Amino acid sequence: MGIFFNKRTQTFHLFNDNISYIMTVLPGGQMGQLYFGKKIHHREDFSYLLETAPRPMASYLFENDRTFSLEHIRQEYGVYGSTDYRSPAVDILQENGARICDFQYVDHMITPGKPKLAGLPATYTEEDSEADTLILILRDPVTGIRLQLLYTIFSGENAIARSAAFYNDGDKTVHLQKAMSLCMDLPDYNYDLMHFSGAWSRERHTKIRSLEMGIQSVGSMRGHSSHEHNPFVILKRKTADEFQGEAIGFSLVYSGNFLAQVEVDTHETTRVLLGIHPDWFDWKLEPESSFQTPEAVMFYTDQGLNHLSQTCHRLYQKRLARGYWRDKVRPILINNWEATYFNFTEDKLVEIASRAKECGVELFVLDDGWFGARRNDRAGLGDWTPALSLLPGGIKGIADKIEALGMKFGLWFEPEMVNMDSDLYRAHPDWILSTPNRSASHGRYQHVLDFSRPEVVDCIYQMMKRILSEAKISYIKWDMNRSITECYSAALPADRQGEVFHRYILGVYDLYERLTSQFPEILFESCASGGARFDPGMLYYAPQAWTSDDTDAVERLKIQYGSSYCYPLSSMGSHVSVCPNHQLNRTTPLYTRANVAYFGTFGYELDLNKLTEEEQEEVKEQIKFMKQYRELFQFGTFYRLSSPFENNVTAWMVVSEDKREAIVGWYRILNVVNEAFHRIPLKGLDPELCYHSLADGNSYYGDELMYAGLITSDSSAGETTPETEHSCDFDSRLYILKA
Ligand code: GLA
Repeated sequence: MGIFFNKRTQTFHLFNDNISYIMTVLPGGQMGQLYFGKKIHHREDFSYLLETAPRPMASYLFENDRTFSLEHIRQEYGVYGSTDYRSPAVDILQENGARICDFQYVDHMITPGKPKLAGLPATYTEEDSEADTLILILRDPVTGIRLQLLYTIFSGENAIARSAAFYNDGDKTVHLQKAMSLCMDLPDYNYDLMHFSGAWSRERHTKIRSLEMGIQSVGSMRGHSSHEHNPFVILKRKTADEFQGEAIGFSLVYSGNFLAQVEVDTHETTRVLLGIHPDWFDWKLEPESSFQTPEAVMFYTDQGLNHLSQTCHRLYQKRLARGYWRDKVRPILINNWEATYFNFTEDKLVEIASRAKECGVELFVLDDGWFGARRNDRAGLGDWTPALSLLPGGIKGIADKIEALGMKFGLWFEPEMVNMDSDLYRAHPDWILSTPNRSASHGRYQHVLDFSRPEVVDCIYQMMKRILSEAKISYIKWDMNRSITECYSAALPADRQGEVFHRYILGVYDLYERLTSQFPEILFESCASGGARFDPGMLYYAPQAWTSDDTDAVERLKIQYGSSYCYPLSSMGSHVSVCPNHQLNRTTPLYTRANVAYFGTFGYELDLNKLTEEEQEEVKEQIKFMKQYRELFQFGTFYRLSSPFENNVTAWMVVSEDKREAIVGWYRILNVVNEAFHRIPLKGLDPELCYHSLADGNSYYGDELMYAGLITSDSSAGETTPETEHSCDFDSRLYILKA
C-alpha cells in the first residue's frame, strides 16, 4: 500500500490491497483523473487512460492542438469557462470581476498518517501506518491562489478522504463563491443514484433513481444537514445489490448546508460534486488568509451495498467518532420527554427514574423544560439556569437523587437557540440571526443564536460549563430544533454575509470541541428535532444521535434501515415508547418495539409506572437481554437482508467479529392469511461452524443457514389457531444463533 509518484509520467497512484486511485498532471498543468476503483497493477505509465480526440464543437486550450479540451477530460477539481462547461468544483470572483481560474500543479507532499483539519471534524489515524496522505499543491498563476488538495488512503479500508484548502498568496482579495470538498469524474454513467431523503419523523428513506444526462442533486439550505436529505449518496451499478456488485459511496463530514450533485454530460461521463452548498456561500479571502473545506470520504466496494456500509460503519465508528465512549457499549437510558413533556415535577421525575431503575435502566435523562421560564415551548431557551420552582435543589439536587438511586443522570440542552421571551434575548436582541428591517421568522417560537460570533458561543459555553461543573452529569442530549431563516449576522460586514452559514457551523463545532475536551467522560447524543443533523460531522463529537422523533416501531424500520447505509448501529438512538404511538397513533406489540430498538443504542421514552405489571416484567427481560447482547448489536457486523421499502417483511442481522454469535431481526408489517413458506439466506456466518438456534432449539451449520436459509415460516400460516401462539400485524422475532 502507499502513494506512488512517477516523475517521468507525472502520475500518482494511491493504492491499498483493494482499491486504486490514479491521477496525472495534464499537459495544461491541471490535475486529470484516470481511475478510481478496484485495485489494479501498479505501472510506471497510465497515460493510456487519458483519452483525447478532436471534436467539431469543442473549444481547445492550446492553439495548435485540436484534441485538448477540458470538457472531454476527467479532472480532479474542474473549473468552469476555460473549455470545460460542466458544473465546476470552484468559483472565484476576482477584484476585476473575472471568474476564470486555472489551477496548475506545482508540487506535492506525501506524508504518513493524516493531518488534522483545523476547526473541522474529520476522520483520523491513531498510528501513521493506518494511512498515507498526498497533498497536491496547485496554483492559479493570475490570482496567486494556492489550492491544496488532500487525499488520504487508508491501509485497511476501501476509503479515500479528500478535502481542499485555498491560500491567498496573491496581493488581491477574492471571493470564494464555490469550494467543493470533492470533484470526482467517472468514465461512464451506468449507475443508479441512491440518496436518503424524507422529512421530520420519516428521515433517511432510501430513494433510488437511474442516472440520466443532465444534473441531479440533493442538498440542504436549512443551516443544518436536514431531515430532508442526508450528506451521503451512493452511485451503484445497475446490477449491484446488497450482496454483490460495484458501488461508490460519497459522504460529507459536515453538518450545515450541503450539495451532493451528479452531472452526466452528453459524452456519457459522470461528475460528482460534494461539499458546502454554493448558494449563499461567499467567503472573502484576503491576502495571506486561507479557507479549508470540510472533508468528503469516498467508499468503494465491488461486493455489494452491505459491504459498502460495513466499510462506512467501521471507519466512522473507529476513526471518526472519538473519545471515552467510542468503543464502549452504551448505557440503557430512560428519557422523560414522551412520558411528561413539559409537565413534570421533581417528584414525578424521581418516580419515573425509580421504577426504571427497578427494571434495570442505567441512565435517566431529563429532557426539555428544566431551565429558565421554560414551562412550554414559548419561553426560556437561552437561559441555562435550573427552574427552582420545579427543581428546588437545582440540577445538582436532581442529579444527586438520581445518582443515589444507582443511576447515571443526563440532561437536555438546546445551546444554539433562544426564545424571545428569555433573559438572554432581552439582554442581547442582536444575537439572533436575522436580516435588518425584515421580520425574523420563528420555528417553534424560537430563534437561532448567531453562532458565527465567538462571544455568543462563549456565553453559552460558560452557562453550560457551570451546570456541568456543579452537578454529576454523565450524558448530554444536544438538540437543535429549527432551520435557519433570514440568515444574516449583525456582527459581520456586508461583504462577509456569505460566510455566516459556514461560520455558524464552525461555532457549533467549536462549542462541541470545548465541551467534549473539558468533560471527556460525558456521553453526547446529538439531536435536531429527531434526525435533522444525523451526519458524520456530528458523529465526530457525539458518538450517538437521536435517529428520529418517530418512535413507532414500523416507521423506525425504514428510518433505521435507511440510516444504516452510512451510519453504524452504535450511532443510532432507538427507544421503546408507549402505544398508541405519539407520532401516528399506531399500536404495535411491546416486543416488536424492543426488537426494533435493540438494533441501536436502546432505551425507553415513557413512564414505566404506567405499564401493567406484566408489561413491566417484559421490560425487565428486555433490559436483561440487551445488557447481554449490546456489544453484539452495537459493535457487530450489520447486514441488511430484506428491505422495508420493498417488502412486507424486513430482516437484518448482526454477526460478532469471531462469527460465533449472530442475531437476526425479522419483522412482518401485515399479517398474511394462508401464507406461503419463507426462508431467509443469512450472511456473514462461518460455513463450518454449527450454530445453536435459541428460537427452535435446533442446530444448523453456517452453510445451511446461509445457503439453504433460515426458515421463517409462520407455523400458523397466518391464522390464529389454538395450537399456535400469535399471528398478528406488526409481528416480529429475533433469532439468536450461537456457535
Ligand atoms: C426535539 C427532540 C425531542 C425532544 C424535544 C424537546 O423535538 O427531538 O426528542 O427533546 O425536542 O423539546
